[in-house]
Amino acid sequence: MWMILALLAIVCGSLAFHVLSPWWTTSLASNWRQMDETLTITLVITGIFFVVINLFVVYCLLRFRHRAGHQAAYQPENKRLERWLIAVTSLGIAALLTPGLAVYASYLRPPPDAMVLEVVGQQWQWRFRFVGAAKKLGASDVRFVSGTNPLGLDPGDPAALANIVITGNEVHLPLNRPVKVLARSNDVLHDFFVPPMRARMNIVPGQVSSFWFTPTVAGRYEAMCAQLCGIGHPRMHGTVVVEDEAAFKAWLAAQPTFAATLAPAAAAVPAVAGDLVAQGRALAQSKGCAGCHSVDGSAGVGPTWMGLFGKTETFSDGSKVVMNPAELKRQILDPTSRVVKGFQPIMPKLDVKDDELDALVAYIQSVH
Ligand code: CUA
Repeated sequence: MWMILALLAIVCGSLAFHVLSPWWTTSLASNWRQMDETLTITLVITGIFFVVINLFVVYCLLRFRHRAGHQAAYQPENKRLERWLIAVTSLGIAALLTPGLAVYASYLRPPPDAMVLEVVGQQWQWRFRFVGAAKKLGASDVRFVSGTNPLGLDPGDPAALANIVITGNEVHLPLNRPVKVLARSNDVLHDFFVPPMRARMNIVPGQVSSFWFTPTVAGRYEAMCAQLCGIGHPRMHGTVVVEDEAAFKAWLAAQPTFAATLAPAAAAVPAVAGDLVAQGRALAQSKGCAGCHSVDGSAGVGPTWMGLFGKTETFSDGSKVVMNPAELKRQILDPTSRVVKGFQPIMPKLDVKDDELDALVAYIQSVH
């Protein structure tokens, strides 16, 4: 009897959870209503099977319960029943798969006027590229990847030089314009995922994945990585800002071309303290520091920068050192020789110039 009650409770509880809880309410901000409809079809079909099968078990428990003097009849085969089950199951599975295949096919076929956005994943941050004045994405290759050229663009390709590169985690997109995403990875498997757009795609190293979507609601959306890609995976976040065409154009015009990022920074006027902090903050984004070091005290792959400056850290060999500018610079340039206790020696060696070191240290000092 308790088994029957448990099954009825599971059925009623599941239905109540679906109707009453807010698990289904992430509102759509793109053209992909079809994806939500596909999910609804899946949910309805699996839901019906779930309820029917459980109620059938309840029926059998009641109808065929043990009674003294009764004996079960032996029935090895029932061809008619088998044909029915095969037909119903096949129909159900076809109804589950077909809408998804149809939507996936159109998900990979962008409209011809779609704007091209390149997304590049790297442990553990996102970078982006727009075609800019070049009208197309210039050549790229992993052999070109360096500290100053994190996207690995070909410096000999005029198209690549004219492309606009976004080395931070935040990208802007214009409202109501189809975007064709070309995604690649510098290292391992990642997955670019913006939940309100219903847009996501695995990014396999060595190949370019593609999909498209049209943002239909202005706002700031979180982009995340949806494939376990190492210890920093949970912190591999980005931001997609959807805004009107004019605001987008103004933002894009302020972003550097690849050629501009290659130009030596020496031309810059001597920085005053505030500028240095701002420069450090930008570097922390573009060099990927922010992926592992939080600035709000929260735990990360590496020590938080909040309150780090001036703190006495204990290293894994037991030695203690005060985090002054010299020690911070030494840590940045040679990260694995001495590692703060409780952390793994996984920080990559970065290509950081002297003035960039000063800016990063100024920024770290400013975080408290
Ligand atoms: Cu990249 Cu998870």
